Amino acid sequence: MTPLIDPFARAISYLRVSVTDRCDFRCTYCMSEHMTFLPKADLLSLEELDRLCSTFVRMGVRKLRITGGEPLVRKGILTFFQAMSRHLATGALKELTLTTNGSQLAKFAQPLADLGVRRINVSLDTLDPDKFARITRWGRLPQVLEGIEAAKAAGLRVKINAVALKGFNEDELFPLLDWCAVNDHDLTFIEVMPMGEDMSPLRLDQYWPLKDLRARLADRFTLTDLAERTGGPARYVRVEETGQKVGFITPLTHNFCESCNRVRLTCTGELYMCLGQEDMADLRAPLRASPDDAELEQAIRAAIARKPRGHDFDYSRQKVAGQMTRHMSHTGG
Ligand code: GTP
Ligand code: 5AD
Ligand code: SF4
Repeated sequence: MTPLIDPFARAISYLRVSVTDRCDFRCTYCMSEHMTFLPKADLLSLEELDRLCSTFVRMGVRKLRITGGEPLVRKGILTFFQAMSRHLATGALKELTLTTNGSQLAKFAQPLADLGVRRINVSLDTLDPDKFARITRWGRLPQVLEGIEAAKAAGLRVKINAVALKGFNEDELFPLLDWCAVNDHDLTFIEVMPMGEDMSPLRLDQYWPLKDLRARLADRFTLTDLAERTGGPARYVRVEETGQKVGFITPLTHNFCESCNRVRLTCTGELYMCLGQEDMADLRAPLRASPDDAELEQAIRAAIARKPRGHDFDYSRQKVAGQMTRHMSHTGG
């Protein structure tokens, strides 16, 4: 089958699938305190998600990342992973993975590893239990740490995702780095993106450009840029003194859209061609219109043909220009 190529000659080989908009946390940069979640009846069934994802795999997707909300709170999620693992078995899919808040990992780590997951990303912005409770609005840090340990025990490689927040976790740069070195986790820092309706001055004030964070790291350590990529947006450095790999995801200061290889599917069958744009294509209608996949494939190709050059997140305008009211949890980041 002809591969999926967008108007800027980028091959689409990475699909991020948000299997639920729900989450057991409410990270302040991701959700508002009082979220209205979708009625369960609006969600695609796991069978429908399977058919959609399998169509993408047939059309050239090689990496599938399951996200949410929190993917592990979706009922029956292991059944879905099991369904996707058949594409690993045939070799059609090279990587099946997930991004999680870690709260359910104690229960799910081993079954996920058994189904072929090798590497997971866990969101963790602070190692201070009180600050953790504040940023997630009520999360319990020990539960997440226990989950991360379970993941390691199950043989999963863990990457910690920390959103860099000025005035919140600036002082935790080195503690986080140390903790990751001791526990052999990879670590990636992320620039906070202006999404969601709560763009209060505090939120804007929290934007901490990663070039500043990197400079602070470089004051203490020797950093070597690595050419290696994981198919995601992070650029990596090696910290020579510890041998650690640290990633930087810099949508604001160092746009990576020219190498974008991904699209995002939501739990209701919307396909977002870019995280930082509102345009989306409804795949639920063609999915349900016919049991034959031809119409669906055509809708996917038409959507990819609309993929924009990139996002226009921008803090410099300070106001609302380029800012989106859509929450990050809608597409799973
Ligand atoms: P790997 O590189 O496979 O480890 O994963 P990843 O970094 O692509 O995925 P993850 O779910 O860990 O995402 C980390 C952060 O990167 C989140 O804040 C995402 O919103 C952000 N991110 C991922 N892809 C994109 C993208 O295409 N554009 C932008 N602006 N941000 C992205
Ligand atoms: N900006 C940057 N990253 C965000 N995430 C959630 N909201 C934002 C935001 N506004 C991150 C989470 C998780 C990943 C999926 O997206 O911390 O690691
Ligand atoms: Fe939940 Fe992740 Fe969003 Fe936090 S960032 S509210 S853990 S989906």
